[in-house]
Amino acid sequence: MTVVAEVIEEYRRLVEEIARCTRCELHRFRRNPVPGEGPLDARVMVVGEAPGKKEDEQGRPFVGPAGQLLTRLLELAGLRRDRVYITNVVKCRPPGNRDPRDEEIEACLPYLIRQIQLIKPSLIIAVGRHAGRTLYRLAGLRWTSMTRLHGRVVEAVIAGRRVLLAVTYHPAAALYRPPIREELERDFSGPIAEAVRKIYSGGAGVPEESRQSSILDFLSPGRGSRSGGADDGEK
Ligand code: URA
Repeated sequence: MTVVAEVIEEYRRLVEEIARCTRCELHRFRRNPVPGEGPLDARVMVVGEAPGKKEDEQGRPFVGPAGQLLTRLLELAGLRRDRVYITNVVKCRPPGNRDPRDEEIEACLPYLIRQIQLIKPSLIIAVGRHAGRTLYRLAGLRWTSMTRLHGRVVEAVIAGRRVLLAVTYHPAAALYRPPIREELERDFSGPIAEAVRKIYSGGAGVPEESRQSSILDFLSPGRGSRSGGADDGEK
């Protein structure tokens, strides 16, 4: 099997495992698991917290109002949403949109680690406190608070891979709070945009040789998937 075929096959296995997963309580409430979506060779990965109502209905991440804001924020950083792999620390919706619990994050963590190992992003953007502190922990970094750490981009080793790690507020927190929205827009148009420029110009954290040579576009199972396709020159 070629490397590309292996990546596609391993990703399929991962999605199937998530669909069958009963590692925590949350499987009892889900309509659809939400593994994530985007190209399997994306350079940028966004990690959110957990699916909400719309995501649970559609099996896709960030499709509600917070997702629409995320799309605009990514554009501020010079990124097209369809060139980014988007996932969450927890793949099933917590009932009533409550915060994911520590034991649920813990149970789901192996899936996120495998996604990082498979997709090999150069930049990971963690949105929200739960995503931020989970990725800081995976990187062996000390989490303090979102107020202190948002907008920082640090070099880190996560799941055995050198990455740039950015942390910022969750877009949902900005929907009704203009000051948070301003901070988010500043983070995305400033330090995160700078990190994007760095990785696309072959700067820190982008070992070119470790990247797949072809685009592997994978959408959520709920929306169908496709692979192959022409390189749009963005990479
Ligand atoms: N909030 C998240 O953290 N993730 C989603 O997928 C949707 C809303």
